[in-house]
Amino acid sequence: MKLVTTIPAMRAVQRSGSVGLVPTMGALHEGHAALFRAARTDCDLVVASVFVNAPQFGDGADLAAYPRDLERDEAFAAEHGVDVLFAPSAEEMYPPRFATWVDPAGAAIGLEGEHRPGHFRAVATVCVKLFNLVRPDRAYFGRKDAQQVAVVKQAVRDLDLPLEIVVVPTVRDKDGLALSSRNARLSAAERERALAIPRALETRDPDRARAVLAAAGVEPDYVAVADLDGPTLAIAARVGETRLIDNVEL
Ligand code: PAF
Repeated sequence: MKLVTTIPAMRAVQRSGSVGLVPTMGALHEGHAALFRAARTDCDLVVASVFVNAPQFGDGADLAAYPRDLERDEAFAAEHGVDVLFAPSAEEMYPPRFATWVDPAGAAIGLEGEHRPGHFRAVATVCVKLFNLVRPDRAYFGRKDAQQVAVVKQAVRDLDLPLEIVVVPTVRDKDGLALSSRNARLSAAERERALAIPRALETRDPDRARAVLAAAGVEPDYVAVADLDGPTLAIAARVGETRLIDNVEL
């Protein structure tokens, strides 16, 4: 596997056949491995990006707590079939005088868009930059971030970007919790409480889902049915200091 850290080096990567891109913020886990496997099956060249996109974090504490270990991510990506790991610095992606943003409405309104102002503007911007830099035929996203999928698909459609967005089902731990880099921050007791989220989703009904969360003492930011790339029951909730999101297609 080749590690590439600059934009000129990324543009210079030799390519033949189809290219798949898996955008990530690192802290790679089995959820990412499922994205890498899907890309490996479909594409001749698999590129993964590792970039902690600071502007998409509303709160500085969340950004500071975000796990970063490029050496570990490099080993994980190599083991899971990635050919090129693109890990640019913040200065490379947002140089001085950077001033152009992709500002999505539509799918970005409400839910995460309401609770995390500016989040999808930053996600859409970095994704469009990554699509321009890597020029993939397909980019792979996890269904766990259903609103992100809807926003990215909308940007691809609205900006006529020449790639296909492939959505990969959510990977869950044996206990049902959706895999997320943030799960590592949960204490054992918090993890037990967090399991109310997948249990609530199993009800497939917002009122019953709220009741399941309340019984476990989990206070949601929202429990909502929305069209997120298809009808979806979506939950965001804070368990201790950790904010978790999850959803189920209805
Ligand atoms: O889902 C993520 O990890 C991030 O939002 C993404 C798509 C890599 C953009 O920074």
